[in-house]
Amino acid sequence: MLYDCDTGIDDAMTLLYLASLVRAGEAELVGVGTVHGNIDPLTGALNTLRVLEAAGLKAGEQGVPVAIGAARPMAQDVHYALDWHGTDGLGDTHLPDPAGRPVAEPAAAQIVRLAREAPGELTLLATGPLTNLGAALLLDDELPSLIREVVVMGGAFEHPGNITTHAEANIWHDPEAADLVFAADWPVVLVPLDATHPTAVHDDWLDRLAAHDTPVARFAANILEFYADAYTPTLRRRGAVIHDALAAMLVVEPELGEYAHRPVRVELRGELTRGTTVWDARSLPAEDTRRPVKIAVGGDVPGFQERLLASLLSF
Ligand code: BDR
Ligand code: CA
Repeated sequence: MLYDCDTGIDDAMTLLYLASLVRAGEAELVGVGTVHGNIDPLTGALNTLRVLEAAGLKAGEQGVPVAIGAARPMAQDVHYALDWHGTDGLGDTHLPDPAGRPVAEPAAAQIVRLAREAPGELTLLATGPLTNLGAALLLDDELPSLIREVVVMGGAFEHPGNITTHAEANIWHDPEAADLVFAADWPVVLVPLDATHPTAVHDDWLDRLAAHDTPVARFAANILEFYADAYTPTLRRRGAVIHDALAAMLVVEPELGEYAHRPVRVELRGELTRGTTVWDARSLPAEDTRRPVKIAVGGDVPGFQERLLASLLSF
């Protein structure tokens, strides 16, 4: 698996989850790319190195390669989400510099190279804006045929948006790139707010994590403390939606999700709706010729919460 992210608190939780799978021999992480979004991609890459190292993995030039990707969207200004993730992207925990360094290869080139090295085997997990994936599609028009599956956290259908009334952050940050990804002829699984919001964790779950006195559990509890403060007004009670980890879990345990299959387009022009994901839910015959996207619409919420907690307590 190659993980493309904007590290970010829930991206960091996802790195911990993936690291626990790697340590258990249940997944392979062949590379990470970072992109603008929650934070700039250099800070995101350093955060990624910090988190992977905290989880006991070698990262950087001597381990899991961490590549820096696009610093801005394809056709609009860049925005960060520091209110949600802290000025350092990790809840203002200001961890020391990592031992490893980001690799020199740009994130989009890394996607293409790793896909070409193992045709049909690579899964792309993307939990930030889709600029690196869009750029990789533009670099190599055979890329869709080389990728096993693309799993994206992003979008909102019946659930309200979290940036505008209809638009979700990862899509809103780069609508053009997202639309390239949904238009390409490759298998896409989309994990929107409709699926992630019901998985919010609250005090009971957070207290169980905080009660575990290991460095990884303490780090996770600290960054979630910041995130839960940011989420409290939205959820109307203390809690946190760890969106990105759900997408990662559906890569390895797809049976935890429930899905609809629909073509997806991104609104690129609407004055109120730019960055909104639109699915074609009309009955057959479908007029949209795009390949249907497998969209998570629900799933096993306790199964997700318990597995994520167990992975964090496994270090
Ligand atoms: C997404 O936006 C980011 O802030 C989170 O990391 C997640 O990927 C949720 O809309
Ligand atoms: Ca993210």
